[in-house]
Order: sequence, then C-alpha cells, then structure tokens
Amino acid sequence: MATLQLKNLTKRFGKDILAVNNVNLEVKDSEYLVLLGPSGCGKTTTMRMVAGLEEATAGQVILDGKDITDLPPRKRDVSMVFQNYAVWPHMTVYDNIAFALKLKGLSKSEIDEIVKDVAGLTKIGDYLMRYPAQLSGGQQQRVAVARAIAVKPKLFLMDEPLSNLDAKLRVSTRTELKAIHNKTGATTVFVTHDQAEAMSMADRIVIMKDGEIMQIGTPEQVYSESANLFVADFIGTPPTNFIDVEMVSENDSHYLVNSYLRFALSGAEEQRLVSYGKEKLVVGIRPENFLLTDESQAILSANCLVSEPQGSHQIVAVELGNKIVKVVSPPKPKISTGDKVYLNVKPNTTGFFDPDTTLRIE
Ligand SMILES: Nc1ncnc2c1ncn2[C@@H]1O[C@H](COP(=O)(O)OP(=O)(O)O)[C@@H](O)[C@H]1O
Ligand SMILES: [Mg+2]
Repeated sequence: MATLQLKNLTKRFGKDILAVNNVNLEVKDSEYLVLLGPSGCGKTTTMRMVAGLEEATAGQVILDGKDITDLPPRKRDVSMVFQNYAVWPHMTVYDNIAFALKLKGLSKSEIDEIVKDVAGLTKIGDYLMRYPAQLSGGQQQRVAVARAIAVKPKLFLMDEPLSNLDAKLRVSTRTELKAIHNKTGATTVFVTHDQAEAMSMADRIVIMKDGEIMQIGTPEQVYSESANLFVADFIGTPPTNFIDVEMVSENDSHYLVNSYLRFALSGAEEQRLVSYGKEKLVVGIRPENFLLTDESQAILSANCLVSEPQGSHQIVAVELGNKIVKVVSPPKPKISTGDKVYLNVKPNTTGFFDPDTTLRIE
C-alpha cells in the first residue's frame, strides 16, 4: 500500500513536443485514481515516467515519501498493465503469473499459493494450464492483471487495459477490475480516454489536455462543477450545452439573454455573476437539467429537430439559431420532429463560464 506524488513532472521530446507539462498530483493510499483525457494529451508518457520507462525532463516522482525519479523500473515496486496485454505466448497462464515470483526467489509452495490466490481473484483458475493463444482477449487481459497483482506492488498502473475488448466485455471487465481493487486495496492509477469508464470506476478523476491537468475531483465534482469549458464538454454524454449570452439589468433585476433565451437571475447566482462584472458569458446546461414546461414558465422555446427514444428516456435535439441543443427528458410525452418545446432549467444546475479564460465562474 502506498501514496504517490508527482511534483512538477515534465516531459519534452526534442525541442518541440511538450508531452507532459508541470503535472502535480497526489494519489492517496488505496485510491483508484483515473487519468482521463483525449488521445495525445500525455497520459501514457506520465505513466511511463512513474514506471521508470521514460526519463523525466523535470520534476519528481515520489512513492511512499521516497524520491524514485531516477530509479530503474525494477527497483520501483510498480506494476504496469498495458493496452496490448503482453502476456508471454510461450508460457502457460500459471507460468506467466509465476515467472516474476520465481525471480524474487520465492519457494515453489509460496508461488503456488499466490498463483492460485490471484487466479481466483481474477477468475482464471480454470485456465492455469492453458497457453494465451487458447484464451479470449478478455481472459488474456485478466492474466495480465493477475500477473501484475501477484508481485504485490506498492503501485498498480493500468494504461487503457480495456481498449482492446469489445464494448460489452469492456463494461463487465471494468466492474471486475473495480471489484478486484476493492478486495486488494492496491493504490491504482488507471488511464483511459473514455469518460464513461472513468466516471464509473474512479474514486477521483484527473482530466488532462495538452499535457496539463485541467481538473482533479470526484466523478460528481468534475460532472457538476466542471472547472472549465473543456471539462464540461468532455465529461457526460450528450455533452453540456453551451449558450452564449449577455447579462442585462432591468429594474434592479438581472437577466442572461440572447435572441432565443431569457434567463432571470436570482439569489447567490445573481450576486456571483454581478460581482464578476462581465457582460458576455457562456451558460452551460447539462441535457438532463432542462425541464419541459409550458409557455408561461419557459426560458426558451425551440422546435424539435430529431428525437431519439432510449427506452428509459428520450434525447431531444432542438434548434437554437445555428446551434443544436440536446435535452434529455422522460420517455413520455413523446416528442417528435417539428414539435415546439418549451424549456426551463432545474434550479442551481447551470454552470457559468468566462468565454475569454474558459474558466468556470465560482
Ligand atoms: N517517444 C516519443 N517521441 C516523440 N513524441 C512522443 C513520444 N511519445 C509520445 N510522444 C508525443 O507526446 C504526446 C503525448 O503522448 P502520449 O503520452 O502517448 O498521449 P496519450 O497516452 O494521452 O494518448 C503526443 O503528442 C505524442 O505524439
Ligand atoms: Mg496512451
């Protein structure tokens, strides 16, 4: 069990590529931290620096209070599972798991106990005498996980371990991985570009873009208090609707308006935006925070462009000028193309952003 700290961690490739830029974060003991971001944002490079497979240009990696920045990989007590499981094809499942334990000098009976233990945990106990080629992709990935757990590392790194699996298997395997974590309590950093995967597994999520951290928070925090436009857009499907507005004051009241929308401000929200003092703002409304209402209560009205029934709910796309706004609403009453919909928003669910800095207005 261990804590991990990254301090000002930076990686340059040559002069021009700044893959990881001054990353600071702390992973707590037993935490399941998910590193999330689009392809190319620096996730793998960060993990490789933690594992010792890539030299840091600047900054420090600290495991359990000890600076390991310059230690070779085998001296770090860190296990890593990659996207392409990299189990050894010429060894049985048993030997794949036992190999590192033999190198550690454990006795035959000690090894046997650990192999059976982790095989049970990862549900591959029936395949121990098979070769990887005789297993499905999902089973091979479990062998890779079993092998990584067997050495009882201080820190467990997983870089997109599920991305080679088909959609259904990916969902069930992520539940299994989380269950394994709940049993072992191993401090884990899990990398993915899939926001739904991150939301469903993480204790906390670190969202990266262009080598930098955009936000660190629990799934609830990054979802309902997204720190900036990028996070509000990246987290959640359908993503947050962004609407450009201006703040106007009339008879001591303040409104956010554009040609389609009129949103009356009140209470703490009003105070916050008035004291922020900018006229042009971006309003961020999550699709499920719209409410279908009648004309008298509406902050905006629009025509339905397309409606997608989903069983438990419907996703209604409406047209606001040249913009499409998505609304998630109950399955009934069913809304069809061409219907006029009147919308309001649930109280205190709207995010306000500064269009110049892209930051959330606190
Ligand atoms: N060995 C390398 N040489 C040069 N550029 C690299 C190398 N590895 C990664 N990069 C670049 O660094 C950036 C981050 O890559 P990576 O960490 O693999 O991102 P991610 O894992 O988030 O997709 C990308 O622009 C990538 O092209
Ligand atoms: Mg990667």
